[in-house]
Order: sequence, then structure tokens, then C-alpha cells
Amino acid sequence: MKSILVNRQALTYAVNQAAEVAGYLWQKGWAERNGGNITLNITEFVDDEIKSLPAISDVKQIGATLPYLKGCYFYCKGTNKRMRDLARWPMEHGSVIRILDDCASYVIIADHPVMPTSELPAHLSVHNRLIEKGSPYKASLHTHPIELIAMTHCKKFLEKDVATNLLWSMIPETKAFCPRGLGIIPYELPSSVQLAEATIEQLEDYDVAMWEKHGVFAVDVDIMSAFDQVDVLNKSALIYIAAKNMGFEPDGMSQEQMQEMTRAFNLPK
Ligand code: 13P
Ligand code: ZN
Repeated sequence: MKSILVNRQALTYAVNQAAEVAGYLWQKGWAERNGGNITLNITEFVDDEIKSLPAISDVKQIGATLPYLKGCYFYCKGTNKRMRDLARWPMEHGSVIRILDDCASYVIIADHPVMPTSELPAHLSVHNRLIEKGSPYKASLHTHPIELIAMTHCKKFLEKDVATNLLWSMIPETKAFCPRGLGIIPYELPSSVQLAEATIEQLEDYDVAMWEKHGVFAVDVDIMSAFDQVDVLNKSALIYIAAKNMGFEPDGMSQEQMQEMTRAFNLPK
């Protein structure tokens, strides 16, 4: 069967970017076994030929009704698939799904009958809300960054904006490139609708949200940008830990230095 990517440059670019990010996740140690998932809203790349492609799966339920997703198409990492495999063969370890008109179910249309990620309720609920808001964001990433997860094993970092302020103060770039900070979501069962609902709620105020003792969920215009936001946050966590390992509590940038950054880069307060 001909791949959906053949003669579709823009779609191929988006999927290849997901593959590139998947490789980075593996290299960073954030993607043990099948850990983490990626979804891309690829509806803008869908032409009449794709629209007429037959389903290669039976109808599957999302577990939620998401009215803004009517007629949308997503590239999704496959459940139980490895990021390190997706990095080399994105269409064999992911699939393209079409949301059906009831907005509560989907079918797989390409390239392989790979079941989408078990975190589909969270990813699709978030995309539904992004479309509702008119957001330009098209990509969502869930990953298991070691040092950020470690921080969530300490209660003080679960208080609102405590981790955000600490991470911002480790190096100026973190606030510049993750200007909305890190939301916190108390522990919920992986793949659950409760986790999906808590994620949408936090993403009203943040682009990256922490699932306590599990991982992060990030959104941005494309998957590389979503990855960058997590990467700068985790870099700050590494600086914090390096200082602690040297035997001292890092001073962090002062409030004045942070405010100066906010003004100079025109960042949200
Ligand atoms: P999937 O393999 O279903 O994508 O799950 C990985 C994961 O990280 C669940 O939280
Ligand atoms: Zn996970």
C-alpha cells in the first residue's frame, strides 16, 4: 500500500519532525520502553484523496465527546510503540486517525492498523480545547523527563508555581522560552478521563503541565516547539540538582533580575 506521505511535502515534514523529536526523547532517557506519546493535528494537510481513504480499523471509541474535532485528522504514536522505533519508522509505529461525525469515535485510515496511544483521551481533549479557543497550537507531547518527575516526589514543588519560579530562576532562558511556566496536576491514573480533564484545565494557564510522579504534557505550534519548552524546564531542573550535588542550595536569579527579563523580552507577568 502507498504511504499517505507520498507526494505530501508539508505532511511529511510534520511527521518527520515527530520522528526527530522521538529520537531526542530516547537519547535523553525520557522514553524508556513505550514511554511517552505524540499527537499532531494534521487536518490542514488533508486533501480529498485522504478524505476518501477507507478505514483500516473498526470504529473505536475515544471515551469522550469532543465537538470541535468533527472531521479532524491526527497523527498519533501507537500504543506500546517505542519512541526509538518511531524515530526511524514513524508510519509503522504511529497511525493516522479520522474523527467520525459523532465526535466520540474514530477510525484508523493510514498507514498501518496501529492502535493510537493509550493517552488519546488527554491528547484529543486538549486538541478539542485548542480548536475551541482558536489556538494556533497543533502538537501535543507527553514524555517522562527524569529530573522534572523527580521534583514531583517532593510536596513543596506541587504547590502552585513553586516549581515554575524555581526553574525560571536557574537560567534566564527558561522564562524566555517557557514563558507560561509549569502547571501541576495531582496524581491521576494514566490514560484516564480524569487525567485528561485536569490536563485541559491546567493548559488554560500553562503550555506545559506536570502529571505528578508520571511525566509532562506540553503543547505548542509544532512538536519541536513543544519539546523545546520541556527541554528548557528540564535543563533548569538539572542545574538545580547539580548545585544541590555540589552541596549548596542555589541562590537563583533575584526577583529584580527576573522582572528585568520579563520586561526586556516582553514576557507575560
Ligand atoms: P502509550 O504506549 O500507550 O503511548 O503509553 C505510554 C505512556 O507514557 C502512558 O502514559
Ligand atoms: Zn506516560
